[in-house]
Amino acid sequence: MSRESETNPFLQGNFGPIGSEDDYTDLRVIGEIPRDLNGTYYRNGPNPAFEPTGRYHWFDGDGMVHAVTLRNGKAAYRNRWVASKGLEEERQAGHALYPGLLDVGKNLTEAPRFKNTGNTNIVFHAGKLLALMEGALPTQLQPCTLATLGEYDFEGKLQTVMTAHPKMDRETGEMLFFGYGPFPPYLTYHVADKQGRLVRSQEIDIEWPSMIHDFVTTREYVVFILCPLVFSLENMFSRGTPFSWEPERGTRIGVMPRTGGSADVQWYSTDASYVFHPMNAYAEGDTLVVEVARFGKLTLMDPDAQQQPQGPETNPRLHRWTLDRAGGTVRSEPLDDRVAEFPRVNEAKVGLRHRYGYMAGAGESLGTGATFTAIYKYDRETGRQETHEFGPGNGCGEAIFVPKHAGVAEDEGYLMTFVYDAPNNRSEFVLLDAQHVTGEPLARVQIPRRVPYGFHGNWLAA
Ligand SMILES: [Fe+2]
Repeated sequence: MSRESETNPFLQGNFGPIGSEDDYTDLRVIGEIPRDLNGTYYRNGPNPAFEPTGRYHWFDGDGMVHAVTLRNGKAAYRNRWVASKGLEEERQAGHALYPGLLDVGKNLTEAPRFKNTGNTNIVFHAGKLLALMEGALPTQLQPCTLATLGEYDFEGKLQTVMTAHPKMDRETGEMLFFGYGPFPPYLTYHVADKQGRLVRSQEIDIEWPSMIHDFVTTREYVVFILCPLVFSLENMFSRGTPFSWEPERGTRIGVMPRTGGSADVQWYSTDASYVFHPMNAYAEGDTLVVEVARFGKLTLMDPDAQQQPQGPETNPRLHRWTLDRAGGTVRSEPLDDRVAEFPRVNEAKVGLRHRYGYMAGAGESLGTGATFTAIYKYDRETGRQETHEFGPGNGCGEAIFVPKHAGVAEDEGYLMTFVYDAPNNRSEFVLLDAQHVTGEPLARVQIPRRVPYGFHGNWLAA
């Protein structure tokens, strides 16, 4: 049998892992880094340290954080693994010990062993830099050195795992998040206050246990998206993986007042959809607008995905759900027929009506390891769509928006992402002017080697 790394598209090309932790300073820049843009862009992603024990899923790899620090027009880069307990065990053993998502239920004789890879997102709240993955506790990192400080459980108070997609309420300083699991309680909502203290944990009743990757909050509401990707023990024993796609259930959207509890959640139904990432949501009169990257059918969690026909429904696109609070109905409308994921808005607009949204755009199927090679900008007021193309093979990732300074136009700022320079097999950290997305990048910071494709990032101003 061939090794997984020789056949799995998520272990090849720029999806494949790198083997070193490096520090580079005074990087070569094409263009100019604005001198008033000082801080660090942290981006997390999977980077398996060892050859997998079985089938590899893109979500399995050990976390690796890549950080680009900008100061007075100069750039430095550093990357470090999230040194989890599981990875330390594997380093001791000299080989992988943990099964991946697709094999977790294989040959089970005891509770599945699960590694807290911390590989999905990286956020800063109340003085703590946290690497997150949805199946475990946060892992705290040292912001300057990226050294792993260990798992963080909110002083012993957090009794569930934590989503990789908490929401920061910029008005209250709170961090809103949830934890989900295949066993009761299936869903728990949490609030950490401005000082980082866990002040609320509220169980939410849901109809079935599901993989709930992200959620969305507004000033008034918390919105849970329950998709028909169901945890199934039957599936786990028969196929090794717990995920079962059951579209006949449809998708349920639960709206809870921020001050309410489980009994106050109003549930809405819409067509079967999977949503990893909402772009944003906001309330307006009697309606609640929720914009998401929607899959009509999810094959990404299926071990046989590569054998399945890929169609328009198996890829994500920007989509709008408009919930009628009085009538209890959902208007569902596609907003773009182009494939795109990793939606972001100006962080100041999270939970409020946004005008602009940004996504990583792809022309091909995601299921086979194809890449995003463009950044899309959506203007919801004019309907205008702008695209920045990086060229075939030059994959980019999620683009985050960083404002120039407070209190200016919503799109006055920068978009930043890593872009693979395929011909030279290295990567660039690219800064676009968000008001001129189609124009030449303001700066292309050249990293002397490649930065593998990853998941999510955030900016921490100096
Ligand atoms: Fe995510």
